[in-house]
Amino acid sequence: MTSKMWGGRFAAGPSAIMEEINTSVGFDQRLAKQDVRGSRAHCSMLVAQGIISKADGEAIQGGLTRIEKDIASGAFVFKRSLEDVHMNIESRLSDLIGEPAGRLHTARSRNDQVATDFRMWVRAAIDTVDDEIKKLQGALIDKAEAEAGTIMPGFTHLQAAQPVTFGHHLLAYVEMFGRDRGRFADARKRLNECPLGAGAIAGTSFPLDRHMSAASLDFDRPMANSMDAVSDRDFAIEFLAAASILSTHMSRFAEEMVIWASAQFGFIKFSDAFSTGSSMMPQKRNPDAAELVRAKAGRVFGSLFTLLTVMKGLPLTYSKDMQEDKEAVFAAFDTLELCLAAMTGMVVDLKPQAARMKASAGAGFTTATDLADWVTRKLNVPFRESHHVTGRIVKLAESKGCDLSELGLADMQTVEPRITADVFNVLTAEASAASRDSFGGTAPANVRAQVQSARERFLGNAK
Ligand code: ARG
Repeated sequence: MTSKMWGGRFAAGPSAIMEEINTSVGFDQRLAKQDVRGSRAHCSMLVAQGIISKADGEAIQGGLTRIEKDIASGAFVFKRSLEDVHMNIESRLSDLIGEPAGRLHTARSRNDQVATDFRMWVRAAIDTVDDEIKKLQGALIDKAEAEAGTIMPGFTHLQAAQPVTFGHHLLAYVEMFGRDRGRFADARKRLNECPLGAGAIAGTSFPLDRHMSAASLDFDRPMANSMDAVSDRDFAIEFLAAASILSTHMSRFAEEMVIWASAQFGFIKFSDAFSTGSSMMPQKRNPDAAELVRAKAGRVFGSLFTLLTVMKGLPLTYSKDMQEDKEAVFAAFDTLELCLAAMTGMVVDLKPQAARMKASAGAGFTTATDLADWVTRKLNVPFRESHHVTGRIVKLAESKGCDLSELGLADMQTVEPRITADVFNVLTAEASAASRDSFGGTAPANVRAQVQSARERFLGNAK
Protein backbone atom coordinates (compact mmCIF):
# COMPACT_ATOMS: atom_id res chain seq x y z
CA MET A 1 0.00 0.00 0.00
CA THR A 2 2.75 2.44 0.89
CA SER A 3 4.67 1.99 -2.35
CA LYS A 4 1.48 2.82 -4.27
CA MET A 5 1.08 5.99 -2.27
CA TRP A 6 4.58 7.23 -3.04
CA GLY A 7 4.16 6.46 -6.70
CA GLY A 8 6.12 7.62 -9.75
CA ARG A 9 9.80 8.25 -9.39
CA PHE A 10 9.52 8.04 -5.62
CA ALA A 11 8.40 4.42 -5.75
CA ALA A 12 11.39 3.49 -3.61
CA GLY A 13 9.64 5.14 -0.67
CA PRO A 14 10.36 7.82 1.91
CA SER A 15 14.13 7.73 1.50
CA ALA A 16 13.83 8.67 -2.19
CA ILE A 17 11.51 11.53 -1.38
CA MET A 18 13.81 12.72 1.37
CA GLU A 19 16.83 12.60 -0.93
CA GLU A 20 14.97 14.51 -3.62
CA ILE A 21 13.85 17.31 -1.33
CA ASN A 22 17.06 17.51 0.67
CA THR A 23 19.70 17.37 -2.01
CA SER A 24 21.32 20.57 -3.20
CA VAL A 25 24.41 19.30 -4.96
CA GLY A 26 22.69 19.61 -8.33
CA PHE A 27 23.03 23.38 -7.98
CA ASP A 28 25.40 24.14 -5.11
CA GLN A 29 28.26 22.44 -6.95
CA ARG A 30 28.69 25.91 -8.40
CA LEU A 31 30.28 26.71 -5.02
CA ALA A 32 32.92 23.99 -5.38
CA LYS A 33 35.87 26.31 -6.02
CA GLN A 34 34.92 28.54 -3.12
CA ASP A 35 34.41 25.51 -0.90
CA VAL A 36 37.93 24.23 -1.57
CA ARG A 37 39.37 27.69 -1.06
CA GLY A 38 37.53 28.07 2.24
CA SER A 39 38.76 24.66 3.37
CA ARG A 40 42.34 25.53 2.51
CA ALA A 41 42.14 28.72 4.57
CA HIS A 42 40.52 26.92 7.50
CA CYS A 43 43.14 24.16 7.37
CA SER A 44 46.09 26.62 7.31
CA MET A 45 44.61 28.45 10.28
CA LEU A 46 44.11 25.19 12.23
CA VAL A 47 47.78 24.33 11.64
CA ALA A 48 49.01 27.83 12.52
CA GLN A 49 47.06 27.68 15.77
CA GLY A 50 48.40 24.22 16.63
CA ILE A 51 44.89 22.74 16.51
CA ILE A 52 45.88 20.09 13.96
CA SER A 53 49.38 18.85 13.12
CA LYS A 54 51.47 20.15 10.27
CA ALA A 55 51.55 16.69 8.72
CA ASP A 56 47.74 16.42 8.75
CA GLY A 57 47.54 19.90 7.32
CA GLU A 58 49.84 18.95 4.45
CA ALA A 59 47.87 15.80 3.72
CA ILE A 60 44.65 17.82 3.62
CA GLN A 61 46.14 20.47 1.31
CA GLY A 62 47.48 17.76 -0.98
CA GLY A 63 44.09 16.07 -1.19
CA LEU A 64 42.42 19.41 -1.87
CA THR A 65 44.86 20.09 -4.71
CA ARG A 66 43.81 16.85 -6.35
CA ILE A 67 40.12 17.67 -5.82
CA GLU A 68 40.60 21.14 -7.24
CA LYS A 69 42.11 19.66 -10.39
CA ASP A 70 39.28 17.20 -10.79
CA ILE A 71 36.71 19.94 -10.32
CA ALA A 72 38.43 22.12 -12.91
CA SER A 73 38.67 19.29 -15.45
CA GLY A 74 35.14 18.13 -14.81
CA ALA A 75 36.33 14.74 -13.61
CA PHE A 76 34.97 15.21 -10.09
CA VAL A 77 31.89 13.06 -9.56
CA PHE A 78 29.20 14.74 -7.48
CA LYS A 79 26.85 12.28 -5.80
CA ARG A 80 23.30 13.22 -4.95
CA SER A 81 23.30 10.81 -2.06
CA LEU A 82 25.98 12.95 -0.40
CA GLU A 83 23.49 15.80 -0.28
CA ASP A 84 25.54 18.92 -0.92
CA VAL A 85 28.82 20.21 -2.29
CA HIS A 86 30.41 20.36 1.16
CA MET A 87 29.81 16.69 1.97
CA ASN A 88 30.81 15.61 -1.52
CA ILE A 89 34.17 17.30 -1.23
CA GLU A 90 34.79 16.11 2.32
CA SER A 91 33.87 12.56 1.43
CA ARG A 92 36.19 12.58 -1.58
CA LEU A 93 38.97 13.98 0.60
CA SER A 94 38.45 11.10 2.97
CA ASP A 95 38.66 8.59 0.08
CA LEU A 96 41.90 10.23 -1.04
CA ILE A 97 43.81 10.76 2.22
CA GLY A 98 41.99 8.77 4.89
CA GLU A 99 42.05 9.72 8.55
CA PRO A 100 43.44 13.30 8.37
CA ALA A 101 40.42 14.30 6.26
CA GLY A 102 38.29 13.94 9.36
CA ARG A 103 40.29 16.68 11.09
CA LEU A 104 39.46 19.38 8.55
CA HIS A 105 36.01 19.96 9.98
CA THR A 106 37.40 20.73 13.45
CA ALA A 107 35.79 23.93 14.77
CA ARG A 108 33.72 24.26 11.62
CA SER A 109 30.09 23.60 10.76
CA ARG A 110 28.44 23.49 7.37
CA ASN A 111 26.56 26.55 8.60
CA ASP A 112 29.58 28.85 8.67
CA GLN A 113 31.08 26.96 5.74
CA VAL A 114 28.20 27.56 3.35
CA ALA A 115 27.82 31.17 4.44
CA THR A 116 31.51 31.73 3.67
CA ASP A 117 31.41 29.95 0.31
CA PHE A 118 28.30 31.78 -0.80
CA ARG A 119 29.65 35.18 0.21
CA MET A 120 32.78 34.53 -1.86
CA TRP A 121 30.65 33.43 -4.79
CA VAL A 122 28.41 36.51 -4.67
CA ARG A 123 31.48 38.72 -4.28
CA ALA A 124 32.94 37.30 -7.50
CA ALA A 125 29.55 37.62 -9.19
CA ILE A 126 29.43 41.31 -8.28
CA ASP A 127 32.88 41.82 -9.81
CA THR A 128 31.81 40.08 -13.02
CA VAL A 129 28.57 42.05 -13.26
CA ASP A 130 30.41 45.30 -12.60
CA ASP A 131 32.75 44.53 -15.46
CA GLU A 132 29.91 43.72 -17.81
CA ILE A 133 27.94 46.86 -16.93
CA LYS A 134 31.12 48.83 -17.56
CA LYS A 135 31.36 47.33 -21.06
CA LEU A 136 27.76 48.30 -21.74
CA GLN A 137 28.49 51.83 -20.55
CA GLY A 138 31.53 51.92 -22.84
CA ALA A 139 29.39 50.95 -25.83
CA LEU A 140 26.77 53.56 -24.94
CA ILE A 141 29.37 56.29 -24.48
CA ASP A 142 30.98 55.54 -27.86
CA LYS A 143 27.57 55.65 -29.55
CA ALA A 144 26.68 58.85 -27.72
CA GLU A 145 29.86 60.45 -28.99
CA ALA A 146 29.07 59.43 -32.57
CA GLU A 147 25.48 60.66 -32.22
CA ALA A 148 26.10 63.80 -30.17
CA GLY A 149 24.54 65.96 -32.85
CA THR A 150 21.78 63.59 -34.00
CA ILE A 151 18.43 65.26 -33.39
CA MET A 152 15.44 63.25 -32.24
CA PRO A 153 12.21 64.00 -30.42
CA GLY A 154 12.32 63.69 -26.65
CA PHE A 155 9.13 62.35 -25.12
CA THR A 156 6.97 62.81 -22.06
CA HIS A 157 3.87 60.62 -21.84
CA LEU A 158 5.26 59.12 -25.07
CA GLN A 159 4.12 62.34 -26.73
CA ALA A 160 6.77 64.34 -28.58
CA ALA A 161 7.85 67.00 -26.10
CA GLN A 162 11.08 68.76 -27.08
CA PRO A 163 13.89 68.02 -29.52
CA VAL A 164 16.84 66.26 -27.88
CA THR A 165 19.99 64.64 -29.18
CA PHE A 166 20.28 60.87 -29.47
CA GLY A 167 23.64 61.06 -27.69
CA HIS A 168 21.98 62.76 -24.73
CA HIS A 169 19.31 60.08 -24.59
CA LEU A 170 21.94 57.33 -24.54
CA LEU A 171 23.94 59.07 -21.84
CA ALA A 172 20.87 59.02 -19.60
CA TYR A 173 21.30 55.23 -19.47
CA VAL A 174 25.01 55.58 -18.79
CA GLU A 175 24.04 57.45 -15.60
CA MET A 176 21.50 54.77 -14.61
CA PHE A 177 24.02 52.00 -15.11
CA GLY A 178 26.56 54.03 -13.15
CA ARG A 179 24.19 54.08 -10.17
CA ASP A 180 23.67 50.34 -10.60
CA ARG A 181 27.40 49.80 -10.30
CA GLY A 182 27.38 52.00 -7.22
CA ARG A 183 24.71 49.81 -5.63
CA PHE A 184 26.66 46.62 -6.34
CA ALA A 185 29.87 48.20 -5.01
CA ASP A 186 28.05 49.30 -1.89
CA ALA A 187 26.61 45.82 -1.33
CA ARG A 188 30.07 44.36 -1.84
CA LYS A 189 31.49 46.45 1.00
CA ARG A 190 28.90 45.19 3.47
CA LEU A 191 29.21 41.63 2.17
CA ASN A 192 32.94 41.46 2.68
CA GLU A 193 33.04 40.10 6.24
CA CYS A 194 33.90 36.50 6.95
CA PRO A 195 31.52 34.07 8.70
CA LEU A 196 34.10 31.28 8.95
CA GLY A 197 34.78 30.29 12.55
CA ALA A 198 31.27 31.06 13.75
CA GLY A 199 30.73 27.30 13.95
CA ALA A 200 27.19 26.02 13.96
CA ILE A 201 25.85 29.02 15.87
CA ALA A 202 27.78 29.95 19.00
CA GLY A 203 31.46 30.06 18.08
CA THR A 204 33.88 27.39 19.30
CA SER A 205 36.08 26.48 22.23
CA PHE A 206 39.07 25.90 19.93
CA PRO A 207 41.60 28.75 19.85
CA LEU A 208 40.81 29.92 16.32
CA ASP A 209 42.35 32.91 14.60
CA ARG A 210 39.34 34.19 12.68
CA HIS A 211 41.27 37.25 11.55
CA MET A 212 43.75 34.98 9.82
CA SER A 213 41.14 32.99 7.90
CA ALA A 214 39.24 36.18 7.02
CA ALA A 215 42.36 37.81 5.62
CA SER A 216 43.43 34.78 3.62
CA LEU A 217 40.01 34.72 1.92
CA ASP A 218 40.27 38.45 1.11
CA PHE A 219 37.58 39.48 3.55
CA ASP A 220 38.00 42.78 5.38
CA ARG A 221 37.35 41.24 8.82
CA PRO A 222 35.57 38.35 10.54
CA MET A 223 31.86 38.85 11.23
CA ALA A 224 31.38 40.12 14.75
CA ASN A 225 28.49 37.92 15.86
CA SER A 226 28.47 34.16 15.33
CA MET A 227 24.67 33.96 15.30
CA ASP A 228 24.42 36.69 12.68
CA ALA A 229 27.26 35.07 10.73
CA VAL A 230 25.41 31.80 10.13
CA SER A 231 21.93 33.23 9.61
CA ASP A 232 22.49 36.39 7.58
CA ARG A 233 21.61 36.40 3.89
CA ASP A 234 21.35 40.18 3.49
CA PHE A 235 24.26 40.05 1.07
CA ALA A 236 22.32 37.80 -1.30
CA ILE A 237 19.18 39.91 -0.97
CA GLU A 238 21.16 43.07 -1.64
CA PHE A 239 22.69 41.47 -4.71
CA LEU A 240 19.21 40.60 -5.98
CA ALA A 241 17.86 44.04 -5.15
CA ALA A 242 20.65 45.72 -7.11
CA ALA A 243 20.13 43.16 -9.88
CA SER A 244 16.42 43.99 -9.96
CA ILE A 245 16.99 47.72 -10.33
CA LEU A 246 19.57 47.04 -13.04
CA SER A 247 17.05 44.80 -14.79
CA THR A 248 14.48 47.60 -14.63
CA HIS A 249 16.89 49.88 -16.45
CA MET A 250 17.69 47.27 -19.07
CA SER A 251 14.00 46.59 -19.53
CA ARG A 252 13.18 50.27 -20.05
CA PHE A 253 15.96 50.63 -22.58
CA ALA A 254 14.89 47.44 -24.33
CA GLU A 255 11.34 48.80 -24.55
CA GLU A 256 12.60 52.03 -26.10
CA MET A 257 14.56 50.08 -28.68
CA VAL A 258 11.48 48.02 -29.53
CA ILE A 259 9.50 51.23 -30.08
CA TRP A 260 12.28 52.92 -32.05
CA ALA A 261 12.73 49.90 -34.30
CA SER A 262 9.04 49.76 -35.27
CA ALA A 263 8.21 50.78 -38.84
CA GLN A 264 6.03 53.61 -37.47
CA PHE A 265 8.95 55.18 -35.62
CA GLY A 266 11.81 53.94 -37.79
CA PHE A 267 14.41 55.60 -35.54
CA ILE A 268 16.85 52.69 -35.44
CA LYS A 269 17.75 49.55 -37.30
CA PHE A 270 18.98 46.45 -35.52
CA SER A 271 21.65 44.27 -37.05
CA ASP A 272 20.66 40.86 -38.36
CA ALA A 273 22.50 39.40 -35.39
CA PHE A 274 19.96 40.83 -32.95
CA SER A 275 16.72 40.52 -34.85
CA THR A 276 14.74 37.77 -36.52
CA GLY A 277 12.45 37.45 -39.48
CA SER A 278 8.88 36.24 -39.31
CA SER A 279 8.08 32.79 -40.64
CA MET A 280 5.01 34.15 -42.43
CA MET A 281 5.34 37.89 -42.94
CA PRO A 282 8.35 38.65 -45.16
CA GLN A 283 8.39 42.39 -44.36
CA LYS A 284 9.06 41.83 -40.69
CA ARG A 285 12.23 42.27 -38.72
CA ASN A 286 11.50 41.53 -35.13
CA PRO A 287 13.53 42.93 -32.23
CA ASP A 288 13.48 39.63 -30.35
CA ALA A 289 16.63 40.20 -28.34
CA ALA A 290 15.32 43.51 -26.99
CA GLU A 291 11.93 41.98 -26.24
CA LEU A 292 13.55 39.15 -24.29
CA VAL A 293 15.72 41.51 -22.27
CA ARG A 294 12.54 43.47 -21.52
CA ALA A 295 10.85 40.29 -20.32
CA LYS A 296 13.67 38.69 -18.41
CA ALA A 297 13.54 41.38 -15.74
CA GLY A 298 10.65 39.31 -14.41
CA ARG A 299 12.93 36.40 -13.59
CA VAL A 300 15.28 38.62 -11.63
CA PHE A 301 12.44 40.21 -9.65
CA GLY A 302 11.20 36.66 -9.04
CA SER A 303 14.54 35.73 -7.50
CA LEU A 304 14.44 38.73 -5.20
CA PHE A 305 10.94 37.81 -4.07
CA THR A 306 11.90 34.18 -3.60
CA LEU A 307 14.68 35.04 -1.21
CA LEU A 308 12.80 37.77 0.66
CA THR A 309 10.01 35.27 1.20
CA VAL A 310 12.36 32.50 2.29
CA MET A 311 14.02 34.77 4.84
CA LYS A 312 11.02 36.59 6.27
CA GLY A 313 9.97 35.21 9.62
CA LEU A 314 12.90 32.76 9.90
CA PRO A 315 13.95 32.50 13.54
CA LEU A 316 17.66 32.73 14.33
CA THR A 317 19.81 31.04 13.38
CA TYR A 318 20.27 28.62 10.48
CA SER A 319 17.27 26.76 9.09
CA LYS A 320 17.33 24.48 6.08
CA ASP A 321 15.04 26.97 4.36
CA MET A 322 18.18 28.92 3.66
CA GLN A 323 19.43 26.28 1.24
CA GLU A 324 16.86 27.81 -1.15
CA ASP A 325 18.96 30.98 -1.37
CA LYS A 326 21.37 29.72 -4.00
CA GLU A 327 19.25 28.89 -7.02
CA ALA A 328 17.60 32.31 -6.83
CA VAL A 329 20.96 34.05 -6.92
CA PHE A 330 22.49 31.77 -9.56
CA ALA A 331 19.48 32.23 -11.84
CA ALA A 332 19.52 36.01 -11.45
CA PHE A 333 23.25 36.13 -12.16
CA ASP A 334 22.92 34.01 -15.30
CA THR A 335 20.07 36.19 -16.52
CA LEU A 336 22.03 39.39 -15.90
CA GLU A 337 25.07 38.11 -17.76
CA LEU A 338 23.01 37.19 -20.78
CA CYS A 339 20.99 40.40 -20.83
CA LEU A 340 24.06 42.60 -20.38
CA ALA A 341 25.81 40.84 -23.25
CA ALA A 342 22.74 41.14 -25.47
CA MET A 343 22.28 44.83 -24.66
CA THR A 344 25.92 45.61 -25.33
CA GLY A 345 25.74 43.79 -28.66
CA MET A 346 22.57 45.59 -29.67
CA VAL A 347 24.02 49.00 -28.79
CA VAL A 348 27.25 48.39 -30.69
CA ASP A 349 25.34 47.22 -33.77
CA LEU A 350 22.36 49.53 -33.87
CA LYS A 351 22.11 52.04 -36.71
CA PRO A 352 20.28 55.28 -35.94
CA GLN A 353 18.17 56.59 -38.84
CA ALA A 354 19.13 60.23 -38.45
CA ALA A 355 16.92 61.71 -41.18
CA ARG A 356 13.86 59.99 -39.83
CA MET A 357 14.63 61.04 -36.25
CA LYS A 358 15.17 64.64 -37.25
CA ALA A 359 11.97 64.87 -39.29
CA SER A 360 10.06 63.51 -36.36
CA ALA A 361 11.82 65.85 -33.94
CA GLY A 362 10.36 68.91 -35.62
CA ALA A 363 6.85 67.52 -35.96
CA GLY A 364 4.19 67.98 -33.33
CA PHE A 365 5.17 71.56 -32.39
CA THR A 366 8.10 70.38 -30.29
CA THR A 367 9.67 73.84 -30.46
CA ALA A 368 6.67 75.55 -28.85
CA THR A 369 8.64 75.98 -25.61
CA ASP A 370 11.40 77.66 -27.62
CA LEU A 371 8.87 80.09 -29.03
CA ALA A 372 7.53 80.83 -25.55
CA ASP A 373 11.08 81.30 -24.23
CA TRP A 374 11.85 83.68 -27.12
CA VAL A 375 8.76 85.76 -26.39
CA THR A 376 9.66 85.86 -22.70
CA ARG A 377 13.27 86.82 -23.30
CA LYS A 378 12.98 89.19 -26.26
CA LEU A 379 9.68 90.90 -25.48
CA ASN A 380 10.11 90.82 -21.69
CA VAL A 381 6.76 89.11 -21.25
CA PRO A 382 6.10 86.94 -18.13
CA PHE A 383 6.45 83.25 -19.04
CA ARG A 384 2.85 82.40 -18.16
CA GLU A 385 1.69 84.99 -20.69
CA SER A 386 4.17 83.84 -23.37
CA HIS A 387 2.83 80.35 -22.83
CA HIS A 388 -0.63 81.67 -23.70
CA VAL A 389 0.61 83.54 -26.80
CA THR A 390 2.45 80.44 -27.97
CA GLY A 391 -0.65 78.34 -27.49
CA ARG A 392 -2.56 80.57 -29.86
CA ILE A 393 0.24 80.45 -32.45
CA VAL A 394 0.34 76.64 -32.22
CA LYS A 395 -3.40 76.56 -32.83
CA LEU A 396 -2.95 78.74 -35.89
CA ALA A 397 -0.23 76.44 -37.28
CA GLU A 398 -2.43 73.47 -36.56
CA SER A 399 -5.33 75.00 -38.49
CA LYS A 400 -3.00 75.67 -41.43
CA GLY A 401 -1.58 72.17 -41.23
CA CYS A 402 2.02 73.33 -40.94
CA ASP A 403 4.87 73.36 -38.42
CA LEU A 404 5.84 76.39 -36.33
CA SER A 405 8.93 77.01 -38.44
CA GLU A 406 6.79 76.98 -41.58
CA LEU A 407 4.32 79.58 -40.33
CA GLY A 408 4.80 83.08 -41.82
CA LEU A 409 5.89 86.03 -39.73
CA ALA A 410 2.69 87.91 -40.63
CA ASP A 411 0.64 85.02 -39.29
CA MET A 412 2.50 85.07 -35.97
CA GLN A 413 2.12 88.81 -35.74
CA THR A 414 -1.65 88.47 -35.86
CA VAL A 415 -1.29 86.91 -32.40
CA GLU A 416 1.62 89.04 -31.10
CA PRO A 417 2.55 92.00 -33.29
CA ARG A 418 5.98 92.51 -31.65
CA ILE A 419 7.35 89.19 -32.89
CA THR A 420 10.26 89.68 -35.37
CA ALA A 421 11.98 87.44 -37.94
CA ASP A 422 14.64 86.66 -35.31
CA VAL A 423 12.20 84.10 -33.89
CA PHE A 424 12.96 81.73 -36.78
CA ASN A 425 16.41 81.17 -35.29
CA VAL A 426 14.87 79.13 -32.50
CA LEU A 427 12.07 77.31 -34.26
CA THR A 428 13.95 74.46 -35.88
CA ALA A 429 14.59 71.29 -33.94
CA GLU A 430 18.35 71.73 -34.32
CA ALA A 431 18.33 75.29 -33.00
CA SER A 432 16.15 74.17 -30.14
CA ALA A 433 18.49 71.36 -29.10
CA ALA A 434 21.59 73.49 -29.58
CA SER A 435 20.17 76.20 -27.33
CA ARG A 436 19.67 73.84 -24.39
CA ASP A 437 23.21 74.16 -23.14
CA SER A 438 22.52 74.51 -19.43
CA PHE A 439 24.48 72.00 -17.31
CA GLY A 440 23.01 68.56 -17.97
CA GLY A 441 21.12 69.84 -21.02
CA THR A 442 20.83 68.22 -24.43
CA ALA A 443 22.94 70.56 -26.64
CA PRO A 444 25.44 68.67 -28.83
CA ALA A 445 28.33 70.60 -27.26
CA ASN A 446 27.16 69.47 -23.83
CA VAL A 447 26.88 65.88 -24.97
CA ARG A 448 30.46 65.95 -26.21
CA ALA A 449 31.63 67.30 -22.87
CA GLN A 450 29.51 64.73 -21.01
CA VAL A 451 31.02 61.93 -23.08
CA GLN A 452 34.46 62.92 -21.78
CA SER A 453 33.20 63.23 -18.23
CA ALA A 454 31.45 59.85 -18.41
CA ARG A 455 34.63 58.21 -19.67
CA GLU A 456 36.51 59.59 -16.68
CA ARG A 457 33.82 58.81 -14.12
CA PHE A 458 32.81 55.35 -15.32
CA LEU A 459 35.57 53.92 -17.48
CA GLY A 460 38.56 55.35 -15.66
CA ASN A 461 40.01 56.89 -18.82
CA ALA A 462 39.76 60.00 -20.94
CA LYS A 463 40.39 58.27 -24.31
N1 ARG B 1 23.50 22.59 1.92
C1 ARG B 1 23.26 23.37 3.08
C2 ARG B 1 22.77 24.77 2.66
O1 ARG B 1 23.02 25.16 1.58
C3 ARG B 1 24.50 23.49 3.89
C4 ARG B 1 24.27 23.80 5.32
C5 ARG B 1 23.65 22.66 6.02
N2 ARG B 1 23.58 22.88 7.44
C6 ARG B 1 22.83 22.12 8.24
N3 ARG B 1 22.80 22.44 9.48
N4 ARG B 1 22.12 21.12 7.78
O2 ARG B 1 22.12 25.47 3.41
